[in-house]
Amino acid sequence: MMDKKHLDANRSMWDDRVDIHVTSDLYNVAGFLDGQCRLREFEPDEIGSVDGQTLLHLQCHFGLDTLSWARRGAVVTGIDFSEPAIRAAREISQRADIAATFEVCNVYETAAFLERRFDIVYTGLGAICWLPDLDAWAREIVKLLKPGGTFYMSEFHPVTDIFGEHDLAVAESYFDEGRPYRDETGGTYTDRDAATSRNLNYSWTHPLSHVITALLKVGLTLESLVEHDYTVFPRFSALSAAPGTDVFRFPEGHPRLPMMYSIRMRFDGGGPEPSSSG
Ligand SMILES: C[S@@+](CC[C@H](N)C(=O)[O-])C[C@H]1O[C@@H](n2cnc3c(N)ncnc32)[C@H](O)[C@@H]1O
Repeated sequence: MMDKKHLDANRSMWDDRVDIHVTSDLYNVAGFLDGQCRLREFEPDEIGSVDGQTLLHLQCHFGLDTLSWARRGAVVTGIDFSEPAIRAAREISQRADIAATFEVCNVYETAAFLERRFDIVYTGLGAICWLPDLDAWAREIVKLLKPGGTFYMSEFHPVTDIFGEHDLAVAESYFDEGRPYRDETGGTYTDRDAATSRNLNYSWTHPLSHVITALLKVGLTLESLVEHDYTVFPRFSALSAAPGTDVFRFPEGHPRLPMMYSIRMRFDGGGPEPSSSG
């Protein structure tokens, strides 16, 4: 399901970055405490009302997105395998006075750990690239959903992974046949020059067809798939953001690419019990 070598390296890399992210301008915790919503604007529109619904956020990092759903009325639980991230999430939920449950858990073991089902299972940007096995991930999701429940995810579009660091020349294969991408670059996306000490990590590119097929195979029904022509960071040098926003687009007249996508699926029931394996 997930090799211990990959799991340990990735957890250590994420643990090392939590404090840097919590104090970063990008995450802007002060703005969140002041009432700013951390979700992408299409997410609440596409998911529909979450008011009064139980919502589980997989790979919640330090919880700002999770707590943003809570502000919209959801009864939220967030899981992440990083202990410092969950500690920070609990602190922020207390400071913001937002009720939430946060647990340290590997995404592949969430159903057995929580032993309960949810109205909504959500996962957000920058999450599934850390998971080697989408079939096991999808099996976990149906073990966590109530019949009639909704699975919703937003992600960076995998087509952006084939290009070089800044320009639009094709540099990588879209299809990586499950091979991990090994990286040891220091710094992090909130601060490229940050002093980080544990840098080794492994990630995977998942073609859109693989994501959807994994989710369909476990019995989810596709309700909506949207490709978005903007992203939330300067992925390519040709992108720019309107002042005061994190909406990065190509200039007028430049060919448009999908840079994020979002999927909503319905679970009609069936599937394994929460405590059963595999
Ligand atoms: C880029 S963050 C995404 C979170 C959220 N979208 C955000 O921007 O705050 C990725 C998260 O996945 C978590 N993660 C990676 N692999 C995991 C695993 N196997 N189980 C649980 N969490 C994992 C990391 O600890 C990290 O917090």
